Amino acid sequence: MAHAILKIPVLSTIVTTTTVKLSKSLLNSSSLHGYGRGICYCSSAVSVSQQQQRQPQVRSPQLVALEYADLSIPHIVSEELGATRVRQHVNPLSSTLSIPVEVPNWNDVFEDPKLPLVVDIGSGSGRFLMWLAKRNPGSKNYMGLDIRKKLVTRAEKWVQELALNNIHFLFANASISFKQLISTYPGPLMLVSILCPDPHFKKRHHKRRIVQKPLVEAIVDGLMPGGQVFIQSDVLEVAVDMRKYFDAESEKLLHIDSFNSDLACDNEGWLVSNPMGIRTEREIHAEYEGAKIYRRMYQKPL
Ligand SMILES: C[S@@+](CC[C@H](N)C(=O)[O-])C[C@H]1O[C@@H](n2cnc3c(N)ncnc32)[C@H](O)[C@@H]1O
Repeated sequence: MAHAILKIPVLSTIVTTTTVKLSKSLLNSSSLHGYGRGICYCSSAVSVSQQQQRQPQVRSPQLVALEYADLSIPHIVSEELGATRVRQHVNPLSSTLSIPVEVPNWNDVFEDPKLPLVVDIGSGSGRFLMWLAKRNPGSKNYMGLDIRKKLVTRAEKWVQELALNNIHFLFANASISFKQLISTYPGPLMLVSILCPDPHFKKRHHKRRIVQKPLVEAIVDGLMPGGQVFIQSDVLEVAVDMRKYFDAESEKLLHIDSFNSDLACDNEGWLVSNPMGIRTEREIHAEYEGAKIYRRMYQKPL
């Protein structure tokens, strides 16, 4: 099926640059040290020159805190749960994670459950989604799905403390529960993001990767006309794998580049910059290590 090329508006937030002063309290915050233990993996090779370019006094967890400084996550909650040890990897194929999550009463979790929905699959700490939710009150709802329960619990506490009424985190295996959740949501699905998913490097563990055909089909079917999918990874092999699945849906999903939008891609078809206005935590850590981030944006035709 051929699609007419038209300039596509990108649904995500316009990139803004924030300059944040290094505050002593931020750099010394105990929550920063605790968070570092929750990082899922470290895959990027770092050259000596890249290491030399780093600011020696700043570590990547501190960069995360600085980038998210205007979220103003209440200190007391950060201290309470911020140092919680989080298991680095959870097996999404385990029997305990094969049970579909109970669909929430959407009226209980969102002030207006008919607003267009953004879903972040593998939301990790949730800061990325909270940052977007705080900027878009009354126009979009945000839902984060993750299989690490402690992160979801902490994210929901932050949401309560920040009094955000357009965001909700669920302890849910997206492979099992995404379709049902989306089919019961009263509003349209406008954007799905899958950002730096667990790489599961070993070949025998590839089936644990989040991007598989059934989930991709559920996303494509669930998206509203004009709805978008944003994927990224700092691991080329994982990015190529995800891309293969979404490119295979070219009958129903357009790849967005400079020919049909304002987003530019490099010669290999990867977006040259992050269109969301904020980096995810894994993205910050990976770029700090000198890694390239491989990104693609897709859109369902109108
Ligand atoms: C490497 S972390 C990335 C977190 C965040 N997106 C970022 O870029 O900083 C991947 C996250 O995906 C979650 N995850 C893995 N498989 C999942 C699944 N089947 N359903 C929901 N979340 C999953 C993990 O628990 C982890 O928090």
